[in-house]
Amino acid sequence: MPFINKTVYNIILLVYCIVLFSCNKTQEEITNDGIILGFSQIGAESAWRNQNTRSVQEAAARQRIQLLFFNAEQKQENQIRAIRSFIAYQVDVIAFVPIISGGWRNVLEEARDAGIPVLICDREINDAYEDLYIGYLGTNMLQQGRSAADFLVTKFFDPPEGFAVDHPAGQPIRIVELQGTEDSSPAILRALGFREVLENHTEFQIIYSASGDFLRSKGYELMREILDDDLLRNMNVLFSHNDSMTLGAIDAMKERGIQPGKDIIIVSIDAEQAAIDALKRGEINCVVECNPNQGADIMNLAQRLARGEPIPRISYMIEAVFNEWDDLSRLPARGY
Ligand code: AHR
Repeated sequence: MPFINKTVYNIILLVYCIVLFSCNKTQEEITNDGIILGFSQIGAESAWRNQNTRSVQEAAARQRIQLLFFNAEQKQENQIRAIRSFIAYQVDVIAFVPIISGGWRNVLEEARDAGIPVLICDREINDAYEDLYIGYLGTNMLQQGRSAADFLVTKFFDPPEGFAVDHPAGQPIRIVELQGTEDSSPAILRALGFREVLENHTEFQIIYSASGDFLRSKGYELMREILDDDLLRNMNVLFSHNDSMTLGAIDAMKERGIQPGKDIIIVSIDAEQAAIDALKRGEINCVVECNPNQGADIMNLAQRLARGEPIPRISYMIEAVFNEWDDLSRLPARGY
């Protein structure tokens, strides 16, 4: 910093942060005079993500926590910039949803050097940074992948009456996988858990796997390409890492006269209302819940961190699996 000394630089940075936070009313919710939590969200790529954001903002308001909320619009550099401004603002706690698992060392070291505790939310980061954050609150994504595969094993080999698949015994079961954002922990862990279960069942073959970035538009485009491909179109199963991509893929199947849930068995993750409705219509066969309602737990952990109390290293949300053979008539509205 050749032209200004460090104190002047810090003052300018602080003023910049205050102006930034007070101008950006749509991305910010400062409620009252509790502790200050800086929260960096990934963006708004899915209905799931929007509910996750609502849950955080509503819980902060309820628990009288001042929330400095930034939406990174799917860019890691925006998340890093937001975390740096939280550090400059000297918030009590930093929480963030890492869009991908790598690339966090420098900014996490800066938070550590500033003495600000960090809570990782929803998505996980590389083990290499394990001493640079205090805890993780989110969902068990490895288990979500396992649950998706468990459903397929039951569906093909031990289904309840009336739910058997018309598939010739001994023939390979051809799976297409739509993964989430490359290098993100849900993409990595869901793929891992899925394969872990299926490796004991050699009939299942993953014939194609591609990233649809958790976006409905990409799920649609990828499925159109798959259905145009002579080698892929006779797939038996779609495993999709989130409901948005699943719903896009279903649109593409219907355009080609393919019956989702019948001609192609579909397993999805998230459990947003539109996917549960498709499950009830028989267009999806199984939906593994990924619980976005993490706000209250995040606020509880943030309060404890601000008081210097210990928190669990890992906290997982409670989740369910919804199968086509379950009675879903009394399932409450999902809210997202
Ligand atoms: O990180 C959780 C994943 O991110 C959800 O499954 C997906 O819908 C969201 O975009």
